[in-house]
Amino acid sequence: MKRVLLVPVFVAFALIVISPEASAKRWLVGDNMGWSTSYGVNYTNWAKGKHFYLGDWLFFVYDRNQMNVLEVNKTDYESCNSDHPLHNWTTGAGRDVVPLNVTRNYYFISGKGFCFGGMKLAVHVEKLPPPPKASPEVSGASPTLYSRSQVVLLPVVFAVGAAWDAFIHLL
Ligand SMILES: *[C@@H]1O[C@H](CO)[C@@H](O)[C@H](O)[C@H]1NC(C)=O
Ligand SMILES: *[C@@H]1O[C@H](CO)[C@@H](O)[C@H](O)[C@H]1NC(C)=O
Ligand SMILES: *[C@@H]1O[C@H](CO)[C@@H](O)[C@H](O)[C@H]1NC(C)=O
Ligand SMILES: *[C@@H]1O[C@H](CO)[C@@H](O)[C@H](O)[C@H]1NC(C)=O
Repeated sequence: MKRVLLVPVFVAFALIVISPEASAKRWLVGDNMGWSTSYGVNYTNWAKGKHFYLGDWLFFVYDRNQMNVLEVNKTDYESCNSDHPLHNWTTGAGRDVVPLNVTRNYYFISGKGFCFGGMKLAVHVEKLPPPPKASPEVSGASPTLYSRSQVVLLPVVFAVGAAWDAFIHLL
């Protein structure tokens, strides 16, 4: 009995654990044009209207032999100065993932002169908004799951229990 009662609890717990992860988004910078000067992407316009939330990631895909990904401060972002990056996110594969784990402004440029060609991105990272729809959804889902598991599991438990009782009595 004890173990079975834990199942709905576990399911509810799993839902709670999974839901924040499901809402984190991995942004492909420049979408399918990537981090590049080839397509004339304006990364300011790319970021415009998007909401970057705490826990999201930026995914930079680019030609590893040419560009890189440097995080700089606002001044250096504006002047395309790559001499003292705050963080060098370049791993060498041309596919770099940056976790946006602090609510602040982030400034990225490519060094090697590409910033002057437009490879500069500023994003503002916001706190996750209080879930207006997720809340009723989750609290609505859990009781459904709970009662559904109960409905399915309890008869099984009683059947197994009865069979076990019968078996014990036979001995
Ligand atoms: C950015 O860094 C440069 C060099 O370290 C410094 O001169 C400048 O004042 C900094 N700007 C900001 C906004 O912190
Ligand atoms: C950034 O890190 C990469 C990989 O470690 C390295 O090859 C590159 O020289 C670094 N770039 C800068 C500007 O520090
Ligand atoms: C954010 O991520 C960076 C890079 O992984 C890490 O160095 C830093 O400690 C993290 N900050 C927080 C507040 O988690
Ligand atoms: C991107 O477009 C904005 C206007 O939407 C403009 O102010 C900015 O200079 C452009 N950036 C680049 C790198 O061309």
